[in-house]
Amino acid sequence: MNLTEVEYTRNLDATLRQMAETGLLLSSMAPEQPPKPNVMTIGWGNVGILWGRPVFTVYVRPSRFTFGCIEASDEFVVSVPTEQMRDVCMEAGSLSGRDVDKFARLGLTALEAAKVGAPLIAECVRHYECRVIHCNDVVDAEIDPAARADFYPEGNLHRIYYGQILRVTEKE
Ligand SMILES: Cc1cc2nc3c(=O)[nH]c(=O)nc-3n(C[C@H](O)[C@H](O)[C@H](O)COP(=O)(O)O)c2cc1C
Repeated sequence: MNLTEVEYTRNLDATLRQMAETGLLLSSMAPEQPPKPNVMTIGWGNVGILWGRPVFTVYVRPSRFTFGCIEASDEFVVSVPTEQMRDVCMEAGSLSGRDVDKFARLGLTALEAAKVGAPLIAECVRHYECRVIHCNDVVDAEIDPAARADFYPEGNLHRIYYGQILRVTEKE
């Protein structure tokens, strides 16, 4: 697998387009012995600059198994799937790592990252290795009422994780 380190701005338009198309794959390490990689699909996220650093911001509901994984490690990887991985993204976005080893079930290959413990996904085309430098919760009282009705009828408000982008790699 030949991966090249690139600037975080490289092909950012393609990353954001893919987030809207299939979703992106968010990997983290479950705090078990031995540690177990988990993956979930995300459809929400931002890439920008905060505190003078490149940051990937992701939105994770407390009910997700991934939530506990990020809480325990303060690390995650966002990987960009191919168009052909649409079904993988649907399954990673409906099964839970609490119940099933999604890497095994979905035929995904975990690769060691350089800067974080969470894995890259060999089948994906681009990877953002991130370390959490801040988090906060969506504030119930401050959300537009229509968005609240659509997205939070049962609460479970997202926690927003600000991941400093430590390394970006892309398939050659
Ligand atoms: C296209 C798509 C986008 C999604 N986006 C998000 C998201 O941004 N945040 C979130 O908390 N859940 C999102 N989900 C739901 C999670 O991926 C899903 O609940 C997953 O099963 C959680 O896995 P886990 O329990 O192993 O963490 C999305 C699901 C799909 C199919």
